[in-house]
Amino acid sequence: MEIVSGHGARHCVCAKRKRAAALIAKIPERFANVRLETLVADPKRHLKQCEAIDAIRANPSGNFILAGRFGTGKTMMMWALYRAAVERMESTVIHATLFEIIEEFRRQIRASQNPDESAYSPRLEAVDLKRGYKYSLFLDDIDKARPSEYAAEQFFAILNAVYEHGHQLVVSTNLPIVKLRDHFDRADERYGGGIVRRLLDGAQTIELF
Ligand SMILES: Nc1ncnc2c1ncn2[C@@H]1O[C@H](COP(=O)(O)OP(=O)(O)O)[C@@H](O)[C@H]1O
Ligand SMILES: [Mg+2]
Repeated sequence: MEIVSGHGARHCVCAKRKRAAALIAKIPERFANVRLETLVADPKRHLKQCEAIDAIRANPSGNFILAGRFGTGKTMMMWALYRAAVERMESTVIHATLFEIIEEFRRQIRASQNPDESAYSPRLEAVDLKRGYKYSLFLDDIDKARPSEYAAEQFFAILNAVYEHGHQLVVSTNLPIVKLRDHFDRADERYGGGIVRRLLDGAQTIELF
């Protein structure tokens, strides 16, 4: 920690660098060398990949919906944006699949119902997004979580907080946007439209089908 005159204490630069190094170490080996600055498009993966890479490079702190077929480079582009966010050291950076996020909520409920288990806090809760600190969230494969009513409700709460507090959000999906709405509507028709509207709001959609 360091003392800032008139402002109290804050994390010093070396603590920030240490945290950044730990976040970089989480990048899977396959994507460990992926960098926004050096990414070279492979038109064999998708003819529009070049355009997609230009778009993320032009706005590395922007919100993106990366939608497209398997193997078109969505996860790769997400890790490139993740690394850029970590290196900016301006926000709390979280990368997860939506499945993992929802599993953590389920675990929290299980722990609260079992007196033998100690309390468990998910990495990402809507309430954390309302405290004034900036977040950069990277949620891969948002259509892979089982769309239960509970999952849709939690996801909507997170998206709402992202929208209201201006956090960075990058998501990927194998579904076209219209199908994404149906996907979350299946869980609970109150959420499908809301989730998609919140996702689209202020985000650039990149479609690689
Ligand atoms: N432009 C590129 N240069 C090098 N490798 C690429 C490129 N685009 C995609 N790949 C590789 O193709 C594979 C599939 O990419 P991935 O991002 O996992 O696709 P998706 O998430 O769209 O299914 C990965 O091994 C990724 O590293
Ligand atoms: Mg992927």
